[in-house]
Amino acid sequence: MHLLSAAWSLIGSLAYLGAVANAAGVLDFGIVFPRPNETYAPTDKFPVVFALQNAALAKNLGLVINTFVRSGPDLLSGLDGADAKHDLKSANFTTSEPYFVYHFLNITGEGLYELFSTTSWARCDERDNEVIITRNSSNLLARFEIKKGAQMVDLVAATADNTKTCPTQGFALNVTDETREAPEPWDYRPSGTCAVLNSSSPTPTANPCRVKIDSAASESMYAALHTALCKGLNPPADCPKETSAAQQVAVASIVSIAAALGAVGFLLA
Ligand SMILES: *[C@@H]1O[C@H](CO)[C@@H](O)[C@H](O)[C@H]1NC(C)=O
Ligand SMILES: *[C@@H]1O[C@H](CO)[C@@H](O)[C@H](O)[C@H]1NC(C)=O
Ligand SMILES: *[C@@H]1O[C@H](CO)[C@@H](O)[C@H](O)[C@H]1NC(C)=O
Ligand SMILES: *[C@@H]1O[C@H](CO)[C@@H](O)[C@H](O)[C@H]1NC(C)=O
Ligand SMILES: *[C@@H]1O[C@H](CO)[C@@H](O)[C@H](O)[C@H]1NC(C)=O
Ligand SMILES: *[C@@H]1O[C@H](CO)[C@@H](O)[C@H](O)[C@H]1NC(C)=O
Repeated sequence: MHLLSAAWSLIGSLAYLGAVANAAGVLDFGIVFPRPNETYAPTDKFPVVFALQNAALAKNLGLVINTFVRSGPDLLSGLDGADAKHDLKSANFTTSEPYFVYHFLNITGEGLYELFSTTSWARCDERDNEVIITRNSSNLLARFEIKKGAQMVDLVAATADNTKTCPTQGFALNVTDETREAPEPWDYRPSGTCAVLNSSSPTPTANPCRVKIDSAASESMYAALHTALCKGLNPPADCPKETSAAQQVAVASIVSIAAALGAVGFLLA
């Protein structure tokens, strides 16, 4: 079992039909795929997709997503190679709305699985005229089953009905347009620009089920995976002979994330 790829954003707004816009000032983060309690056919290209709505608000939040997959009869074991970390501290969130973060898993065995993710963010914490940066986090999970003969994974079909609400699949943060500069502290704490969150306002409700993945967005994710596999040790038969400069740039980012994970040696060209 391998983690096959890592994340970057999708260019283009085609991905978002956005009939119901999110409230201004509210960053909505959530698991778009897999859908909870669904059963899918085994595949070596199983997508895990998170979406940020109002993604530009994430600029100074220093988001980091850590995920792993539980498996086994009582979900007591971990799925080998399925651990992934997406560090979005220097992501350019204005490249697409919504902003997708994704990777692919190789899930060939039948059974019950649970995607578990912990997403952390930074915020300004102002006390006694002092600005420090504190982090908080939120856990999200999606349980699903893999069974031969079940529906094939189809991101477009899975997200077609965006009238559903699924608040437990995500979380929302009320991000003000104010930032502060946290000075270099005497200890290990981080410094720099932080976002001011409004925690006094009522907690906004997330709805990642509002996000549609259209065919262009879906194809773009699989194309990114294909590009990564073509640079790997066992490239598929249909890889292009020449590698363009753009592909090399894309692969460079994959390799660095793969290296950070300490996994997926076959991605390293
Ligand atoms: C997926 O996992 C199976 C079983 O471990 C393995 O045989 C297969 O080669 C893997 N596929 C890819 C693309 O890594
Ligand atoms: C999925 O199933 C679990 C266990 O039966 C249940 O607790 C949970 O509410 C379900 N989630 C959704 C989104 O239906
Ligand atoms: C972020 O992406 C946008 C749109 O592609 C681009 O105009 C902008 O220059 C990028 N910003 C940085 C800091 O790379
Ligand atoms: C951390 O975030 C949770 C929501 O995920 C919130 O309920 C809690 O109040 C936050 N804690 C702090 C110290 O901001
Ligand atoms: C978010 O905070 C702003 C002020 O910064 C406030 O006007 C707005 O009502 C809040 N939104 C929600 C959904 O809580
Ligand atoms: C937080 O939001 C509330 C209403 O939701 C608003 O009254 C208040 O001014 C906001 N605070 C900040 C610091 O923006």
